Amino acid sequence: MKNKSLVIITFLFLLFTAIACEKILPPAPADEDVLAGTIPGLTAQQEKEHLIGDAAFAKIFTAAEGLGPIFVQNSCSNCHVGNGKGHPSTVVTRYAHVNGSKVDYLLSKGGPQLQQKSIDGYLAESLPSEVNVFTKRLAPAIMGLGYIAALHDQSILANADSLDLNGDGISGRPNYVGPTSFFIAQDIHIAINGHYIGRFGKKAEKVMIQDQVVFALKQDIGITSDFDMEDLYNYELGVYAGDNIADPEASASFVNSLVFYMRTLKAPPRRNESDADVMAGEKVFTQIGCASCHVSTFTTSESDIAALSNQTFHPYSDFLLHDMGVSLDDKYPEGSANSNEWRTPPLWGIGLAEASQGGLFLLHDGRATSFETVIALHGGEAASRRAAFLALSEAEKAQLIKFLKSL
Ligand code: HEC
Ligand code: HEC
Repeated sequence: MKNKSLVIITFLFLLFTAIACEKILPPAPADEDVLAGTIPGLTAQQEKEHLIGDAAFAKIFTAAEGLGPIFVQNSCSNCHVGNGKGHPSTVVTRYAHVNGSKVDYLLSKGGPQLQQKSIDGYLAESLPSEVNVFTKRLAPAIMGLGYIAALHDQSILANADSLDLNGDGISGRPNYVGPTSFFIAQDIHIAINGHYIGRFGKKAEKVMIQDQVVFALKQDIGITSDFDMEDLYNYELGVYAGDNIADPEASASFVNSLVFYMRTLKAPPRRNESDADVMAGEKVFTQIGCASCHVSTFTTSESDIAALSNQTFHPYSDFLLHDMGVSLDDKYPEGSANSNEWRTPPLWGIGLAEASQGGLFLLHDGRATSFETVIALHGGEAASRRAAFLALSEAEKAQLIKFLKSL
């Protein structure tokens, strides 16, 4: 009897401590849910360099450091929150004057991107009166980019079929873009008439991670670097009036550490991979032809970062441009990409978007708030796959979506 009450008291005590501890210590998020951390197999030195890049990515620029004078946000991580997909409140706006096949990005009027904020005492930019087309872009997640950067062009070309010779209704083609002034071709690149295959950006208009980083520093934050020394200013003022901070405002090593950070961020981890519905959902995904564009598996080439060499990874993208039909046509061509063409976005990490966005905002501008809406908006080359999805049973649709949420 005495023993029994001791057991009960001990039990109640342990229960109370457990509840109390739970209140004090929030449960640590499971590793697989977190959009941070490095690719496996880095050296201690590389881990250190990654942390330096992590700090650069989170850095908040001040006017004294060269922010602006006009800008969109003052830090990379304001838009790429926690490395995940961005929120509609931080979309970027690009503009142009389009006349038939002629596109004027209004570079002499402050184009191609709107900087709607400014440092104290400076006039923020408004859309030039010539603008007849503008497009909104939601920040993508930036996980696993090192694997994509380490692909050989040949692996991308293997899925290209611009004339649809195989007759599957899908005619993915690469976006060949002119290289930036600081581009250095590597063994993985195949040039055609001095142009290279773009693999980053919503219309695949950036060849290297570095291209996007230099562009982002300048166009999103108003920061010059060794790779682009020309600062932004507001053309509405009529004369050059900068921010009076000596250029470059960011060093080459700052840019390089941002690039290194993104090259070494791990791929987003899968969850519930072996759940029966998830596995059935992936089968449906392949059967109805989603995988014609959202290609599951690639293998990297040799890389100067050994941990990225010859690695198999699962982005669910072909990195090619596809005509997605009228609903997704933003009337804004980029490089050789037409306005109705988009690069297949990788789907890895899509299941983590809802938590990082605080809601679900999908597609290039974040307009779709459910997976069903995303698929309903798949037109053009993807129209037959949309029809195949709509013809599925409710149970199969649910399995497919459960699979997407496991990515
Ligand atoms: C104002 C919001 C914003 C800020 C600030 C911002 N980005 Fe982005 N980022 C975007 C958007 C939007 C895109 C997609 C642009 C497109 O493709 O048209 C993007 C694309 C990218 C990509 C390409 C990813 C891919 O898969 O194609 C990289 C890399 C990137 N950003 C890095 C950075 C870095 C580094 C910084 C800081 C120097 C930064 N970004 C600052 C919004 C932002
Ligand atoms: C013809 C190629 C193609 C096919 C086939 C295709 N997609 Fe897509 N998918 C795209 C492109 C391109 C986008 C980006 C469109 C945009 O942002 O406007 C996209 C976007 C998406 C997104 C949103 C991604 C994001 O980051 O916002 C999801 C989810 C998706 N597709 C799932 C599917 C499913 C499920 C199927 C099969 C029913 C499918 N796709 C078939 C090319 C394709």
